[in-house]
Amino acid sequence: MEKHIVKSLALGSAAGLAGGGITALGASLGFTTFSAIWPALAICAVIGALVHNAKQSSTDLMDNRTHTLRKRLERVRRDVGDIHGLVRLGPYTQDLPLPMGGGWALTGDSAALLAREVLTRRPGTILELGSGVSTLILGQIVKRGGQGHVLSVDHDPGWASQTRRYVEFLGLDDVVTVVDAPLKALSLGNQAFNWYDIPQSELDKLGAIDLLLVDGPPQSQGISQAARYPAFPVLRQRLSHNALVFVDDAHRSMESNMIRQWMAEDPGWNEQWFDTVDGVCLLTRKS
Ligand SMILES: C[S@@+](CC[C@H](N)C(=O)[O-])C[C@H]1O[C@@H](n2cnc3c(N)ncnc32)[C@H](O)[C@@H]1O
Repeated sequence: MEKHIVKSLALGSAAGLAGGGITALGASLGFTTFSAIWPALAICAVIGALVHNAKQSSTDLMDNRTHTLRKRLERVRRDVGDIHGLVRLGPYTQDLPLPMGGGWALTGDSAALLAREVLTRRPGTILELGSGVSTLILGQIVKRGGQGHVLSVDHDPGWASQTRRYVEFLGLDDVVTVVDAPLKALSLGNQAFNWYDIPQSELDKLGAIDLLLVDGPPQSQGISQAARYPAFPVLRQRLSHNALVFVDDAHRSMESNMIRQWMAEDPGWNEQWFDTVDGVCLLTRKS
């Protein structure tokens, strides 16, 4: 604000000086007296400052309104995507004790897409990176389908135990295992990551992975490489022939660049992008 006032005064003064200069020129030509220069200078300065200030204020007001409007539109877009997904998820949301979508969880539309893929592909083995609402949806579909198992890993023991409580509440403990997998330093190429330390015995018990859901670990602030990058190079060998890799948050540049890097490193996969609220990318082997 202070900057604007200073700028307004400077512009006003410049206008005043210009006005004064013209008046001085007039005076030198004998059209007016020299004593008229100073009142003219002052009037021009005030008018210039007022005009500039009014212009600046209206620009600021427009910028603020545009920003607020953009934020509200984004909120509406997220809510519509969420509600749309919730409606399509139908029976799998009836008993969920967690609020859906937004924040950290899969938004409703991405969850509905996940449900559709699981219902139609009927994967026998599912490995989920990052537990939460998605674990409960996967568990319910697998339980109703009467076959398959979900292994969900989480780096946060508190979050994992909360997911376990809801799994138990919904009676899904026979089809869902939530394991603690603390993040451990991992080098890939010349890059360093913090990656899930998944108990080998749990991976072996699960067997070849039919569906890999990549929704963790969270991206730490200020880290330039994608936190989820190791998912594909580390687990690719464990994916079954018809495996589906479901990558959430694909709209984020970190994730979309990560997927492009995966595809450059292994061109044997197809990618399919979905414009859900946070974006989803599905990877399947080329036949
Ligand atoms: C993107 S979240 C995983 C969400 C999960 N797949 C779902 O759909 O609900 C990734 C990780 O963030 C952590 N997390 C999830 N919700 C959180 C919350 N509300 N606050 C802080 N951390 C959270 C958990 O450790 C989780 O594994």
